[in-house]
Amino acid sequence: MAQTWTPNSWRQKPIQQVPDYPDLAVLDSVEARLAKYPPLVFAGEARRLRSALANVAEGRGFLLQGGDCAESFAEHGADTIRDFFRAFLQMAVVLTFGAQQPVVKVGRIAGQFAKPRSSGVEKQGDMTLPSYRGDIINGIEFTEEARVPNPERQVMAYRQSAATLNLLRAFAMGGYANLENVHQWMLGFVKDSPQAERYRKLADRISETMDFMKAIGITAENHPSLRETDFFTSHEALLLGYEQALTRVDSTSGDWYATSGHMIWIGDRTRQPDHAHIEYCRGIKNPLGLKCGPSLTADGLLELIDILNPANEAGRLTLICRFGHDKVAEHLPRLIRAVEREGKKVVWSCDPMHGNTITLNNYKTRPFERILSEVESFFQIHRAEGSHPGGIHIEMTGNDVTECTGGARALSGDDLADRYHTHCDPRLNADQALELAFLLAERMKGGRDEKKMVVNG
Ligand code: TRP
Ligand code: MN
Repeated sequence: MAQTWTPNSWRQKPIQQVPDYPDLAVLDSVEARLAKYPPLVFAGEARRLRSALANVAEGRGFLLQGGDCAESFAEHGADTIRDFFRAFLQMAVVLTFGAQQPVVKVGRIAGQFAKPRSSGVEKQGDMTLPSYRGDIINGIEFTEEARVPNPERQVMAYRQSAATLNLLRAFAMGGYANLENVHQWMLGFVKDSPQAERYRKLADRISETMDFMKAIGITAENHPSLRETDFFTSHEALLLGYEQALTRVDSTSGDWYATSGHMIWIGDRTRQPDHAHIEYCRGIKNPLGLKCGPSLTADGLLELIDILNPANEAGRLTLICRFGHDKVAEHLPRLIRAVEREGKKVVWSCDPMHGNTITLNNYKTRPFERILSEVESFFQIHRAEGSHPGGIHIEMTGNDVTECTGGARALSGDDLADRYHTHCDPRLNADQALELAFLLAERMKGGRDEKKMVVNG
């Protein structure tokens, strides 16, 4: 693996999940155009995220990563972005206040458009068409025209990402995320849910603390950390031609960065050590995520860690574990032990979504109890192994959808048809996401109290 890396060295490697573009000349011209467009994020921001994640890897902090399974062109709008951000801020504040740890905030947003598929074709009735691969590649409608990969969609995705990021930056830095607004982040449809009362109580305590601080001269005006928050973006780096076009040299360090988002991850289906996706990701300096599913062996993981993080830098690599509620106990301990034995510095994050998908009434869904159960096991196993349960990776939306069953409102299989809007996998709605945040905060607090007891006793 010591061969020279270039932004296009991945093109010499075997590759999975490539769209079948009918006209490669058009594809080339789109990629050439994108290569001239401004970067979406800056190297300095990616470095800032890496150092925040380094703290998490060392056990000081928690990574909250979440957003749509797949962003769509049709649902692009200010309200969707704002409502996602509100739900996300609520989760973040519950975790920060409840667990008293800094929370690193990373959205699955402003670039999460390309989807890996288990089959290249989709069958409906007696018609077979190419699978939908995400709005950056083809259309979701089940027609022949829509399913032809169209390179121009990459330009659309780039522009949507830029607009989304612009609004998110304004929200994060322009006053919306001010802790003085903690009550206003509550979404209308959550207001009468069981989570609302819990959230209101917590928000009251924060407001009271803010009033006290104001009385002693600490205000949001003179302390920017009370009114601003660092919010980062991430997506799966699946469509490598697009990623390459946005790969740029940072003039201050001379290093290569993916400028399509702050953090990018490698999917469970495209992590073959000698294939293209690993080749591309090893050469860029952004923080990386690696999805770890049941087929990953301990040796396989160590090999990937050596390729992706040869200098063993904390904050460079986040292992996003997605085993399923009934498989996590079988697979996670052996990976933790191998990583600990070799002294590798990683962030351990739990994706309780992708291993818990079932079909009910012809809908892909995820029972909330199974999601909670995988999270619980993840925490218990880390406590038992003495490692830090560093984060969570979820598919969620700020909209009032009915895609995952269960939760405090006990959505049933019959409710799924009401508001099932996802372009790909079922997401937690804002209510369920908040419920998960409260549970996480309790678990994180439990771990802290245990540590204190060890220190004091
Ligand atoms: N700047 C701090 C942080 O991001 C505090 C903060 C400000 C905050 N606004 C927030 C925390 C919104 C959570 C949610 O952690
Ligand atoms: Mn998904």
